[in-house]
Amino acid sequence: SDIPVLTLDGPGGAGKGTISRLLADELGWHLLDSGALYRLTALAAERQGVDFDDEPALVQVARQLDIAFLPDEQGARVLLGEDDVSREIRQEHIGGRASEVASMPAVRDALLARQQDFAQLPGLVADGRDMGTVVFPQASLKIFLTASAEERARRRQAQLQSTGSHASLPDLLKEIQARDERDMQRSVAPLVAARDAITLDTTELSIPDVVARIGALLAERG
Ligand code: C5P
Repeated sequence: SDIPVLTLDGPGGAGKGTISRLLADELGWHLLDSGALYRLTALAAERQGVDFDDEPALVQVARQLDIAFLPDEQGARVLLGEDDVSREIRQEHIGGRASEVASMPAVRDALLARQQDFAQLPGLVADGRDMGTVVFPQASLKIFLTASAEERARRRQAQLQSTGSHASLPDLLKEIQARDERDMQRSVAPLVAARDAITLDTTELSIPDVVARIGALLAERG
């Protein structure tokens, strides 16, 4: 289609969230945080007391999600119904639950059109695992962001600290590795770079460096 889409895929903690937000701000484009949709599905299911083995019930939860993303200086405020759940959905256990529901093909399917609706002029920055492979295969530019697991654990710890939560590095590393494993091994939409994606390893790069590199790549593509 004619709507420019920039996809950023990669494992958790590679900096996708921050970098996507900065790029969207800089370009004046819309932003899709697709991980938040899986996190919201998991949180809504928990609140409704849905069994995480009950795939049809989880599909219903995904279909009926009543959510909103409100722009804010801190990023985006995320609403579930009337409730501001911006902080709650970032909890590690919700991340784990999100990864469980994300392994179900029917749940992914239920969220597909909702994600594609974010592609609006003047453009979209889409952050996730399968943005370039499944949701926006025609994207103008596809980036696959990586960083070492140790570096990602350190970043996650700093991020948690900034929101007043705490977790030990070894625990975070274990969770990150378990989540990577599950996201890469699942049969549907596994975490993998699209064939036409450009991989950027951010272990040794600052956030402004990464933003500048991606901005330059986008400018090259015209
Ligand atoms: O990126 P974030 O950590 O918020 O994503 C939470 C979980 O949602 C991931 O571990 C992954 O399992 C799932 N996810 C996904 N596809 C996406 C985005 C997130 O499967 N596009």
